Amino acid sequence: MEKHFAVIGDPIAHSLSPLMHNSGYRSAGIEAEYQRFQIPAHALGEAVQGLKALGYAGWNVTIPHKESILAFLDDLTPYAQKAGAVNTVKADQGKLIGHNTDGLGFVRSVEGLLAGFDGRRAVILGSGGAAKGICLALAERGMKIHILNRTLDKARELSETLGQRGYEATYGELKPGEWMKEADLLVQTTSVGLKNEPFPFSLKGIRPQAVVVDIIFRPRVTPFLKDAEAQGCQTLNGLGMLLYQGALAWEFWLGGQAPVDAMRKALFVSI
Ligand code: ATR
Repeated sequence: MEKHFAVIGDPIAHSLSPLMHNSGYRSAGIEAEYQRFQIPAHALGEAVQGLKALGYAGWNVTIPHKESILAFLDDLTPYAQKAGAVNTVKADQGKLIGHNTDGLGFVRSVEGLLAGFDGRRAVILGSGGAAKGICLALAERGMKIHILNRTLDKARELSETLGQRGYEATYGELKPGEWMKEADLLVQTTSVGLKNEPFPFSLKGIRPQAVVVDIIFRPRVTPFLKDAEAQGCQTLNGLGMLLYQGALAWEFWLGGQAPVDAMRKALFVSI
């Protein structure tokens, strides 16, 4: 019997998840279909009931529902519980289980580029939803986290939350500083690059050994990544994170290993 999956969010028209998952199903010979639905915030509860009634096996959840979806779920995986946000829901014998693959997907995407995680330093630019998931996943792997944000209070809050959970985290203002000489990994999670605007400061002075990631993938190379390249750093955009959060969601729903190569190919030809 064909299985049904989807992504729900608002806006959703630009989502590459249907293309990525449907290419994966075709490549793995799985009878399944993945759709996208634009669901405004006020209709989330009805949409969840609808998906459940229609027998959807699972769905991804994106902006603006990642936190509000929690009220409609029966259970959370330990990781989703820690993250306080859900991007993947599985319908399991009538029960809805929430999981979060964003941060874990990020970790998988940088795994091959770093010499290791434990004890190394990650500097995170931004303190929004994306930063939270990434900080948690990196801290769980033993990285020391330093968070920089335009609004200092939000960086402090995130750093304190991590500290309360027993992780090593500090924070500061969004500006150049000593951190540039210490970072093993630098992650740009703010929405600055989305409009192709220049980043507020130059990366001049960063260690060339640092791996620099911008979680945006449109444009493929943001001004921030161009600057990092000019400083001799190895760089990565957000396509890897998108790919691996999708692969981990697939594995949560269907078990086994996701056909990552087919999914990657579908993404890369579309961008
Ligand atoms: P997401 O869930 O995608 O991370 P978000 O929660 O809206 O999105 O967070 C956006 C992040 O981008 C925030 O860290 C925001 O900084 P503030 O907390 O100070 O608002 C950051 N951001 C957005 N525009 C920015 C700009 N022009 N300069 C610096 N930081 C910016």
